[in-house]
Amino acid sequence: MASKIPLSRVYQSETIDRRILEVVKTGNYILGPECKAFADELAKYMGVKHMVLSNSWTAAVHLLHLAQNLKAGDEILVPSLTAFPSIEPMIHVGAKPIFCDIDDTYTIDPEDAKKKITNRTVGILPVHLYGRPANMDAMMKLAADHGLWIIEDCAQCHGAKWKGKKAGGIARMAAFSFYPSKNLTVYGDGGAVATDDPKAVETIQMLQNHGRREGGKYFHEEVGYNLRFNEIQAAVGREQLKMLDELNVGRRRAADWYRRELAGVKGITMPPEDKGDETYSVYHMFVTRLDSHEKREGLAKCLKEQGIQTGVHYPVPNHQQPAITKRYNDIPRLPKTEDYCKRILSLPMFAALTEQEVVTVSNAIKQYLK
Ligand SMILES: Cc1ncc(COP(=O)(O)O)c(C=O)c1O
Repeated sequence: MASKIPLSRVYQSETIDRRILEVVKTGNYILGPECKAFADELAKYMGVKHMVLSNSWTAAVHLLHLAQNLKAGDEILVPSLTAFPSIEPMIHVGAKPIFCDIDDTYTIDPEDAKKKITNRTVGILPVHLYGRPANMDAMMKLAADHGLWIIEDCAQCHGAKWKGKKAGGIARMAAFSFYPSKNLTVYGDGGAVATDDPKAVETIQMLQNHGRREGGKYFHEEVGYNLRFNEIQAAVGREQLKMLDELNVGRRRAADWYRRELAGVKGITMPPEDKGDETYSVYHMFVTRLDSHEKREGLAKCLKEQGIQTGVHYPVPNHQQPAITKRYNDIPRLPKTEDYCKRILSLPMFAALTEQEVVTVSNAIKQYLK
């Protein structure tokens, strides 16, 4: 049964429906003018030099890591509290994720990251989790002090800002996902990498298209992949991008309603608020914390019974996933991450969420916690 109030809802419009049909009729389907326009418009919006589209964040970052020539034994600092795909590409190219704890903002703890630097560390992959930018001043300083690169994981933060700058345009590399629940979606899988390095762009474009260059249809310089993007989804992305700021305002408004409705309610902690202009959060998710694991499980069940969908992002931190514990024998303890994973609960969050829906969810929470 569909939930009365879902966890997320994709923005749709008649304009997008029309654009899809228009593209179908052009007869161009892969890496055509829509893809070029979407990549250029995204680059301009994010304030980056180059954007290369691929068919997911995971694919795009895999190509980026190949272009970086990462080698076996290279270590990359990454928060454990993130979607598992954040670490898959680095492992596929032989590098090792070095899991870091989070601070109260749910993003990478700069102090913990600093302690974990070794002479094998090559880069940092901070994740702007739930739509809130990580502490980029601290990350940029750490990177500068130790000669590391940074890739911003922007899968959940399209349009978010750190000190007035768009997340994704702060470090020299970043990656975006357009998966359906994201703030900017393409009605399916999709992703992109931003980089200021034209050589990396060339390599990524070549590798994603069977190792050939544009125009060289049957001439392959490298053994590549098919990780290209397509015209229909690019047209959807272009329309979604036009709406992004407005949709993010809708999410921020819903976050304010939750804070108002749940202010002072004992037993539940709201996500961190923006402090002045340091961050502009875009609430990909609205992640609360309950006082105990049992309370989290009980509340999720109680809301489900009332047709309110919730989520846990994420119930098992990456350093404790079976795929990781069987691969490495130096699994760290990350107290805050491990504690939060047991207690966090994501409430419904999307741009069209109404005040009445937020009141309904909040009343159900208050009733449960009474
Ligand atoms: C933080 C984060 N990084 C990476 C990804 C991977 O994105 P994609 O599904 O486009 O490969 C996701 C999506 O789930 C994500 O939320």
